[in-house]
Amino acid sequence: MSASVTPLFPSSVHASEWSPSSWRAFPASQQPVYADAARLRDSLAQLALLPPLVTSWEIESLRREIADAQEGKRFFLQGGDCAERFNECQSDVISNRLKVLLQMSVVLAHGMRKPVIRVGRFAGQYAKPRSSDFETRDGVSLPSYRGDLINQPEFDAASREPDPVRMIMGHARSAMTMNFVRALVDGGFADLHHPEYWDLAWLKESSSASDYSRHVKAIGDAVRFTESISGTRSENLKRLDFYTSHEALLLPYEEALTREVPRHPGHFNLSTHFPWIGMRTASLGGAHAEFFRGIRNPIGVKVGPSVTASQLLELMDVFNPNGEAGRLTFIHRMGASSISSSLASLVDAVKRDGRPVLWVCDPMHGNTETTANGFKTRKFENILSEVEQAFAIHDAAGTILGGVHLEVTGEDVTECTGGARDLTEQDLERAYRSTVDPRLNYEQALELTMAIIRQRSVTNGE
Ligand code: PEP
Ligand code: CO
Repeated sequence: MSASVTPLFPSSVHASEWSPSSWRAFPASQQPVYADAARLRDSLAQLALLPPLVTSWEIESLRREIADAQEGKRFFLQGGDCAERFNECQSDVISNRLKVLLQMSVVLAHGMRKPVIRVGRFAGQYAKPRSSDFETRDGVSLPSYRGDLINQPEFDAASREPDPVRMIMGHARSAMTMNFVRALVDGGFADLHHPEYWDLAWLKESSSASDYSRHVKAIGDAVRFTESISGTRSENLKRLDFYTSHEALLLPYEEALTREVPRHPGHFNLSTHFPWIGMRTASLGGAHAEFFRGIRNPIGVKVGPSVTASQLLELMDVFNPNGEAGRLTFIHRMGASSISSSLASLVDAVKRDGRPVLWVCDPMHGNTETTANGFKTRKFENILSEVEQAFAIHDAAGTILGGVHLEVTGEDVTECTGGARDLTEQDLERAYRSTVDPRLNYEQALELTMAIIRQRSVTNGE
């Protein structure tokens, strides 16, 4: 290709042979600078020998389920913390997070009349992109906090120094989280016969409680009816599976866990089922695009308001040239005030292209603002508005909005304003715990779910 016709995002730069380390020849943004090269080498060598966190069988089954969701046969629910913290790898934090996701998923499944794919932002969501490499306070500049996988948030030089051993710690905590989630699920915690296991302490106080109970009762009736007709107890309903996901940002870590397996061709990123590429690292020509194009996992790509239709098609050329079903998910995060002007042309272009994608709406990351008293927050009404507009835009285009991506916690925090309890900016001081983005609390998450169901029921004419 001659220089005069080089496109803005040259997909051809990713044409040469791929390997788990081929990203190293490309510019890598959002990476820490490790001062001690030997310590980095040692940590990566250890990591490369440790067992993987997930298996290729699970990854393949998620890909098949995403392929169903692309056709509207399943709904994709992805949620969890903006960033997990090492010190929150605790049983109640993990089980509360699971409870919220389970509650949201049964309401969605019942209201939408389709199975829900549950994907946690957990068991590895430890690395964060930052707008600046350094943070300055009172004239002192230190490296920005990039997530617990890299450094610590306290503002002193030792805490902010990137330490490669934290990758081993992150792997261990991801494994502990996975282990507990798997044990809970296998032990009957996620049994549809016992939705009362998922009640959170504050359910009773919630204005969504009666709506939620109505859905649970209807599901219970349906389960009992089916079982009495068939004369058997349905073992299928005893476990609702979870998949894991995280932003695959720290490339040396992801590389160390990307491996070949005996029975499936290609390389799998075995650090998670569903890695996604963040908005700040999703441009072609970069190291993240190079890494993502070669792994066999289903992948997510965050799409912000500045992405053009031709860039999106180039991303499809690189990430899914043959249009494999289930491979590619676009997670649009436009903001309530931008989605009406930015989404329709993208959706149209992809529809005309014809290769399958799963469209997912992240109504969180385009709606972040800072209050007068200095809190990073989001307004519930903007989050809800973006989801509602997203459904309407896809309906008008004849495409399917197949899922939502949320930052949500099972803890009773006050980080987003609004919702049924109408949290104000002053309320944020009461229980603001996130070190990064504000999350929907349990009650706001259920309220959003109910609102989605109400809207879909009207649209579907039920
Ligand atoms: C995130 O999901 O936490 C995030 C940083 O999102 P985005 O890349 O869309 O800004
Ligand atoms: Co976030």
